[in-house]
Amino acid sequence: MEIISDISTMQQRCLAERRKGRRISFVPTMGYLHQGHLSLLSEGKRRGDLLVLSIFVNPTQFGQGEDLDKYPQDMPRDAQLARDLGVDLLFTPNKQDIYPVGYATYVNVEGLTDNLCGANRPGHFRGVTTVVAKLFNIVQPDVALFGRKDFQQLAVIRRMTCDLNLPVEIVGMPIVREADGLAMSSRNIYLSADQRRQGVALIDAIRLVKKELNQGQSDAATLISLVEGRIGQEPEASIDYVQICHADTLQDMDRVTGDSVLLLAVKVGSTRLIDNHYLCEEV
Ligand code: PAF
Repeated sequence: MEIISDISTMQQRCLAERRKGRRISFVPTMGYLHQGHLSLLSEGKRRGDLLVLSIFVNPTQFGQGEDLDKYPQDMPRDAQLARDLGVDLLFTPNKQDIYPVGYATYVNVEGLTDNLCGANRPGHFRGVTTVVAKLFNIVQPDVALFGRKDFQQLAVIRRMTCDLNLPVEIVGMPIVREADGLAMSSRNIYLSADQRRQGVALIDAIRLVKKELNQGQSDAATLISLVEGRIGQEPEASIDYVQICHADTLQDMDRVTGDSVLLLAVKVGSTRLIDNHYLCEEV
C-alpha cells in the first residue's frame, strides 16, 4: 500500500491508473476506522481494480463547539487495517493543502439539506459536499462507497453527483452494528460504559416502531412518540430529532408508506449518535 499526502501526486497517480484502464474504487473517510468502514473497503475491493482510501478530518463540516479538535485519530492503526484489507493507495492530505489561504469555493446542495441534520448542524453538508467534490476531482473514482448510517449525507452526495454530472457511481452500504445493535461510529469511543449502554435505546426504539408498524399502526406522530418515550427512559439521552421522512425527498411524512425512513439523532451525554431504518425492511 502506498501512502500519499501530496494532492498533485495523488491526482497524477490516479489519472495514470485510469489511462491504463483501471477502475478506481474510492472510500472517503475521516479515519479511526471501524467495521462499517471495513465493509465499504471490502465492497470497494470487489468493485474495482484499484482501491483508494482517504483519511481527512474535514474542518469545514464541523460547526462551532463541535468535536473537530478531539475527533479520534489513529493513523498507524488505520494504515495497518487498510493494508490488511488490500487498499492500494491511502490518501492523507493536509488541511492547509485542501483549504489553502484564500480558499473560496463551496458546493451547496439545496433542499435536501434543510431538514434533519441540515437543520441541526448549519453548514455541515456544505462542508461535506465541498470536500467530497474535491476528493472526487483528485481521486477520479469510477465508484465511491458511503455508509447508510449517514442517510442524509448519502442522499445529498447522490444529488450533488447527479446535479454536477460527476462520472462517479455512488454506492450506499448497509449500517454495520455492534452485537447489541448500536450503529458503529468512530464517535462511539467518546461514550462511557454507562452511556454506551444507554446508546442501545436507539435500536430498541427502532425495533419498537417496527413492531407497532407490523401491528398496523402507520401514523407517524404516534410512532415518533414511541421513540421519544423509549429514548426518554435514558438519563443522559436528549433528542436532537426523531422524524419519519420520505427516503428520496427527506420531507416529513404523516403516515408511513413503503418509502418511509425513520431517522434519529440523539445526544448521549455530549456524544451525538445518529441512526435510521427503512421502515419497509426488517430490523
Ligand atoms: O462520512 C464521513 O466520514 C465524512 O462526512 C466524509 C464523507 C468522509 C466527508 O468528510
